[in-house]
Amino acid sequence: MDITPLRVAVIIGSAREGRFGPTVAAWVAAETARRRDMEAETVDVAEAGSGTVTKQLGWADAFVVVTPEYNHSFPAPLKATIDDHYSEWTAKPVAFVSYGGLSGGLRAVEQLRPIFAELHAVTVRDTVSFHGGRRCFDADGRPTDAESVVAAGRMLDRLAWWAHALRDARSIRPYAS
Ligand SMILES: Cc1cc2nc3c(=O)[nH]c(=O)nc-3n(C[C@H](O)[C@H](O)[C@H](O)COP(=O)(O)O)c2cc1C
Repeated sequence: MDITPLRVAVIIGSAREGRFGPTVAAWVAAETARRRDMEAETVDVAEAGSGTVTKQLGWADAFVVVTPEYNHSFPAPLKATIDDHYSEWTAKPVAFVSYGGLSGGLRAVEQLRPIFAELHAVTVRDTVSFHGGRRCFDADGRPTDAESVVAAGRMLDRLAWWAHALRDARSIRPYAS
């Protein structure tokens, strides 16, 4: 088994002026980077088209998509970034951290799962969701609820399992075309 740290791209899924997404993504990236088995890079869908995003997605062994909910779904710039790429997603795992109003962004997450299945990516069952968005974070950008930190750890453990399994598998044989 390859024990090189897994490369995790943490994707900020919103792009609007005044968005809260970077705060959530910064916390997720910090939780990821403090693990011995992972390194993290933050990908911003607001920078789509710059070429940087494509490089970052190609570099990654695994993804954490940080998404809010807009009108019971996910933001359009996130979908555009997903659609602009193909092989970058293939045979890699995707986990989700969501936020929003009462729903905590869970409807956005459930709508993203079949999209990633179409792209031959594997979605991780465990999610972290913040019901109430900004109110769930303190002034330092950390969740006020300790349960969220526990949930993130469990989600990243499972993301790591899939990322190792799929990275090893991709190195043994190319994904079936
Ligand atoms: C256009 C729009 C639609 C929204 N629709 C929903 C919704 O359907 N359900 C929900 O729980 N929250 C909804 N919200 C609240 C957002 O999820 C919340 O404001 C979140 O912080 C937005 O993410 P952002 O700040 O990163 O853009 C909506 C917000 C916007 C701007």
